[in-house]
Amino acid sequence: MSELRFDNVSVRYGGRRRGTTAVDTVSLTVGDGEIVGLVGESGSGKSSLARAAVGLAPVTSGRIELDGRPAPRRSVQMVFQDPYSSLDPRMTVGASIGEVTPRAVTDRRAEIRRVLELVELDPGLARSFPGQLSGGQRQRVAVARVLAARPEVVIADEITSALDVSIQGTVLNLLRGLQRELGLSMLFISHNLAVVRYVASTVAVMYRGRIVEQGPADDVLRDPQHPYTRDLVAAIPGHRRHEPLDQGRTL
Ligand SMILES: Nc1ncnc2c1ncn2[C@@H]1O[C@H](COP(=O)(O)OP(=O)(O)OP(=O)(O)O)[C@@H](O)[C@H]1O
Ligand SMILES: [Mg+2]
Repeated sequence: MSELRFDNVSVRYGGRRRGTTAVDTVSLTVGDGEIVGLVGESGSGKSSLARAAVGLAPVTSGRIELDGRPAPRRSVQMVFQDPYSSLDPRMTVGASIGEVTPRAVTDRRAEIRRVLELVELDPGLARSFPGQLSGGQRQRVAVARVLAARPEVVIADEITSALDVSIQGTVLNLLRGLQRELGLSMLFISHNLAVVRYVASTVAVMYRGRIVEQGPADDVLRDPQHPYTRDLVAAIPGHRRHEPLDQGRTL
């Protein structure tokens, strides 16, 4: 895994006059083996920043680099909120994973088994179609597929938002486990600060296209500086400022 750096990145949609600046000169670093949480209200530009890193949104100024160089295409991989946007419903789980496995991997079956086991799924599910799986299983397959591509950095954009609260916890625990086991570098996006805090050691707060606050998660939660961050912290159930967050109670 490696370091992903956004350096004064802006993303603008549409023309010069009528366009929208979705991301406004954002600088953010996802360190090697680190999970950085990006939180912000709907429309604040989180997905635009994420999509810019994988070539799906236009970078109008600034640079996005992996270890100081423009990132090769497959080295940054994204998991989306809706697994149907990354999984073809007509392909088996195994075929979907096999499709992105690098050519150098000769034993595809073993690789499919390896990544399904990494996301704690029965390797027998390789023969299933996405429609036969639960939402949580589908999202695990989406994560497995991304891991099969052997990325340097993973971007997870609201990957638990569509899941039941009880399932959300298991997927978040999975990500924490993967980070420990594989040293995964990850940008984890959510509009929910409690969720972000559960997986991320560093938190960045986005508001109207800008990062208004970033730092170690504990510091940001204990002593939020920006009014918007204060609102987010106040909205966490059971959380009182100036007290460390009880991780068991965050979900
Ligand atoms: N393809 C697009 N074309 C034009 N405008 C867009 C496009 N995608 C996003 N926008 C606009 O850019 C701004 C940021 O949107 P973005 O989707 O990045 O926010 P977000 O923080 O991911 O929101 P959410 O929490 O709802 O996913 C919004 O004003 C949105 O309407
Ligand atoms: Mg979004």
